Amino acid sequence: MTWALRSDETAAGTYEHPAGRHDLRVAIARHIGISRGVRASADDIIITNGTQQALDILARVLLASGDGIAVEDPGYGPPRQLFKALGLRVVGVPVDRQGLVVDALPRGIRAVYVTPSHQYPLSVTMTLPRRQALLAWAEQNNAAIIEDDYDSEFRFGGRPLEPLQTLDAKGRVVYVGSFSKTMLPTLRLGFLVTPPSLRAALHKAKFVSDWHSSTLTQAALARFLDEGAFARHVRRVSAVYRERHKILADAITRDFAEHLELIPSTSGLHLTALARRMSADRIAEIARRAADRGVAIQVLSRFAVSAIPRAGIMLGYGAIPTAHIEEGLHLVRACFDSGPQCL
Ligand SMILES: Cc1ncc(COP(=O)(O)O)c(C=O)c1O
Repeated sequence: MTWALRSDETAAGTYEHPAGRHDLRVAIARHIGISRGVRASADDIIITNGTQQALDILARVLLASGDGIAVEDPGYGPPRQLFKALGLRVVGVPVDRQGLVVDALPRGIRAVYVTPSHQYPLSVTMTLPRRQALLAWAEQNNAAIIEDDYDSEFRFGGRPLEPLQTLDAKGRVVYVGSFSKTMLPTLRLGFLVTPPSLRAALHKAKFVSDWHSSTLTQAALARFLDEGAFARHVRRVSAVYRERHKILADAITRDFAEHLELIPSTSGLHLTALARRMSADRIAEIARRAADRGVAIQVLSRFAVSAIPRAGIMLGYGAIPTAHIEEGLHLVRACFDSGPQCL
């Protein structure tokens, strides 16, 4: 960043193209090609202020007030709030072990927002048949798919499935990525990969929104990627996250078996477990008690779109020091058992 501030080029004081710095777009195209198999050139990339702005400009270009957009239920909240604020009709569609239930998509939907690599919050990966069914559905219904791939750089086993964007032969998928999980959410840097048909309209939408994202942070990130520092950083933190993932997954299967069923997952920064018998209200009560004692667990009911929330918990391990996990789990276990530590 210091380098970017001192550089003559970024200090020149001229506006950038709305799509963002060319060097960063080249670096991102290379990175997603290698790490996720996404086929994209620098011209297909638009740099945004995080996923949230990518979704904002996409919704403005693809949809008009009153149009229907399908979201996963349960699902990530901020996009839902955004779509509602734009006057869209937001429809929750259930998620099962194979990902979004394509057969449950209602008629009259113009776009679908999905997290196929690592569903948020359930952690399932959308299977290949489901991916194909979703693409076929979008073609039949003349709808767009927004693929949010926010944390799949962190993989702890298995081979990743091809993104929808790569499987798509009809230009219906817009792929969205973010540096919030790999780097820092405070950077506010993300990107989208546009099909050629939407490119000009998306450039305009980004321009009227804020002209372009901060050139300084873009320059610093481009250099970080180009010098290989980003790849080294991801490799280093992946080893840390892998260990946390294993500690948590082992503990849930071993120590919480009578209460929780772990949803298997091999990527990302969170794990999810469904309650075997407890109600969503009871789980919420346990989470409240754990929070009062300094341990944060997220309840699945928080992510519900429909009136009937699922009972379960989501454990994020991006921010908790590895050495504190066992102690935290011990307390959560006491809360599940109404033990003396958690009364
Ligand atoms: C499902 C999902 N998508 C995207 C993001 C990143 O959003 P942004 O890039 O706006 O910070 C997150 C962060 O928590 C997320 O959970």
